[in-house]
Amino acid sequence: MTYRRCGRSGLKLPLVSLGLWHNFGHDREIDGQRAIIRRAFDLGITHFDLANNYGPPNGAAEENFGRILREDLAGHRDELVISTKAGYDMWEGPYGEWGSRKYLLASLDQSLARMGLDYVDIFYSHRFDPDTPLEETLGALDTAVKSGRALYVGISSYSGQRTEEAVAILRRMGTPLLIHQPSYSMLNRWIEEDLLDVLGREGVGAIAFSPLAQGMLTTKYLDGIPADSRAAEGRFLTTDMITPERIAHVRRLNEIAGERGQSLAQMALAWTLRDERVTSALIGASSVKQLEENVAAIGDVEFTAEELAAIDRDAVDAGINIWQQSSDA
Ligand SMILES: NC(=O)c1ccc[n+]([C@@H]2O[C@H](COP(=O)([O-])OP(=O)(O)OC[C@H]3O[C@@H](n4cnc5c(N)ncnc54)[C@H](OP(=O)(O)O)[C@@H]3O)[C@@H](O)[C@H]2O)c1
Repeated sequence: MTYRRCGRSGLKLPLVSLGLWHNFGHDREIDGQRAIIRRAFDLGITHFDLANNYGPPNGAAEENFGRILREDLAGHRDELVISTKAGYDMWEGPYGEWGSRKYLLASLDQSLARMGLDYVDIFYSHRFDPDTPLEETLGALDTAVKSGRALYVGISSYSGQRTEEAVAILRRMGTPLLIHQPSYSMLNRWIEEDLLDVLGREGVGAIAFSPLAQGMLTTKYLDGIPADSRAAEGRFLTTDMITPERIAHVRRLNEIAGERGQSLAQMALAWTLRDERVTSALIGASSVKQLEENVAAIGDVEFTAEELAAIDRDAVDAGINIWQQSSDA
């Protein structure tokens, strides 16, 4: 594994990190989850990304991860970077979502209890809240660090402008912004507009989530919708997102990957990492086999100008950024 420095901080992250959004709820066998996490750690993936609401049901991924930490990774806590987030709908009533101090700190305490941890390495504001002063949301992150519940703070799906504001506010508070977590892939390029420049200038790291466009940037949907796929499940990736136009682009990208001697998934990950301002690609995996294929991507993250130009013809924004409400605010 190769490790990249996260912005201008002291923290390094693996080029490939593993997220537990899907495949780690109570609907999946714990032994399958255990196998993926153990293999990831053995491959040098030191960073695991969670959120309060990952499941199903909400909280289940943190519970399962906490169990695997206790049963399989005891004694390795200092080798791990564990993140969690709060921002989306988590519990009933007015204090169970968005960006108030009340919600964020209560949620972090619940996350720590579910995972059996004293602290997380990174605590994120999961989405921008247009109705709460940014100072309040970021003040809660600052409190998380100063009270010992988190080592670093991050924001997710904030626009370039909101990120600049957040950097300034957090700097004044004495808790620098470590990292931004945006969606980014060959089919979803919004961060190239201005966010990456802001992050590079301010020395903030970036961890690109859904770099495989939830599986669309693999060969899995080239011949229809497999029954065991995320699209068949239809919660966040729906079958109507798998259009013939998008698949035509994916098919041509697959050919370019073949010419590079990579699978499409490997090229898609390498492509997000071609710019050093992207610290890590944050993948999901439903099997050990997928994980192993994806980690092999880190062998070749260099592209020639000709390859990049060829990719650009099909790496077109496909309107699949379902987190746009936050990044447009
Ligand atoms: N901050 C946010 O708002 C936010 C939002 C979304 C995600 N995230 C983070 O990003 C992480 C990754 O998101 P993601 O799961 O959407 O990422 P992704 O890597 O784009 O998609 C992962 C899915 O792609 C398929 N896949 C992966 N490798 C494959 C391979 N080699 N061959 C064929 N199919 C493959 C699997 O789908 P199947 O299940 O169909 O096999 C897998 O579950 C999340 O777990 C979470 O930590 C954050």
